[in-house]
Amino acid sequence: MSAPPSPAPSPLPPLLEVQALRAELATRGGPLNMLDDVSFTLGHGRVLALVGESGSGKSATAFSIMGLLDPPARVAGGSVRFAGRELVGLAEAEMRRLRGNRIAMIFQDPMMTLNPVLTIGAQIVETVLAHAPVGRAEARRRARDVLGRVGVPGPEERLACHPHQLSGGLRQRVAIAIALLHQPDLIIADEPTTALDATIQAQILREVRALVTERRTALLWITHDLSVAEQLADDIAVMYAGRIVERGPATALLRQPIHPYTAGLIASLPRGRRGSRLTPIPGLPPTLASRPSGCAFRPRCGVAGPACAADPPWRDRLAGSAPGGAVRCVNPGQAVAA
Ligand SMILES: Nc1ncnc2c1ncn2[C@@H]1O[C@H](COP(=O)(O)OP(=O)(O)O)[C@@H](O)[C@H]1O
Ligand SMILES: [Mg+2]
Repeated sequence: MSAPPSPAPSPLPPLLEVQALRAELATRGGPLNMLDDVSFTLGHGRVLALVGESGSGKSATAFSIMGLLDPPARVAGGSVRFAGRELVGLAEAEMRRLRGNRIAMIFQDPMMTLNPVLTIGAQIVETVLAHAPVGRAEARRRARDVLGRVGVPGPEERLACHPHQLSGGLRQRVAIAIALLHQPDLIIADEPTTALDATIQAQILREVRALVTERRTALLWITHDLSVAEQLADDIAVMYAGRIVERGPATALLRQPIHPYTAGLIASLPRGRRGSRLTPIPGLPPTLASRPSGCAFRPRCGVAGPACAADPPWRDRLAGSAPGGAVRCVNPGQAVAA
């Protein structure tokens, strides 16, 4: 007798689901779009890199998710679901509770995390004690340990320092250590390693990657640097002028970019892929007030045509293979040939 068919396991929803998120900036001339139709999902233990040049809306995306967008900017539409719960419109007290426990943010400016009047040791030990059933001696040991793991030399001596006694780079490493100690389900990191030298950055990325894998933390890592995304991410979403223009598995997207903007970012990597010379994308990203209609990249795009004046729809990056990601370009074939 054959066993009765077992019910299909219901798949868990992704930890973070961002759907058609919109944010605006109020101005005297009326609201300007900061984010338009931003959508992505992020599962437990996954790393998504959000990449794009300065001004593309990466920080606005992070702050919108965290409920930290301040007037005159505001979330104007869409949905952010965290573990099945809607965060858009959530009461501030609830949001603060989530930020203290389940979601941690690493800011560009570490002083957004650090308290200037407390020693590093006091801040880290408090964080350990708040999240693990250990005594002070063990908490201090863990504090030294985590500082060592993010590349802080002489961790014991640093514990007695106040934030202003450390360099900017050391402060940032301490802020990263604190975010990791919170053991959140989700970490959102907004270019925290940009100011650090390449060796320290690589060490931190390795450590963050290991901890995320160990603890199945979901990580949204924002960077303007595709080589950081390459070192760290499972998936990449490329942002331009307030929209995501291409997203997919990191390896596939870097090997075969479809959107001309993604291709341009890769071609401008200093290492020069395919042995080619570094080729920067011509021109600059638009300001909020000067974003073109349709595909906002078209004034800088080598393959744009009249069809690009209309909003490009989403399509699969690779024909008939949704897991390969999606792209928002009416002209994707030509980008591959370019
Ligand atoms: N408070 C603000 N006032 C005016 N413009 C803003 C404000 N915040 C963001 N912007 C504009 O919104 C756009 C997106 O900014 P941001 O999210 O910081 O981009 P990124 O993090 O990708 O560099 C940029 O054009 C930026 O100038
Ligand atoms: Mg930013």
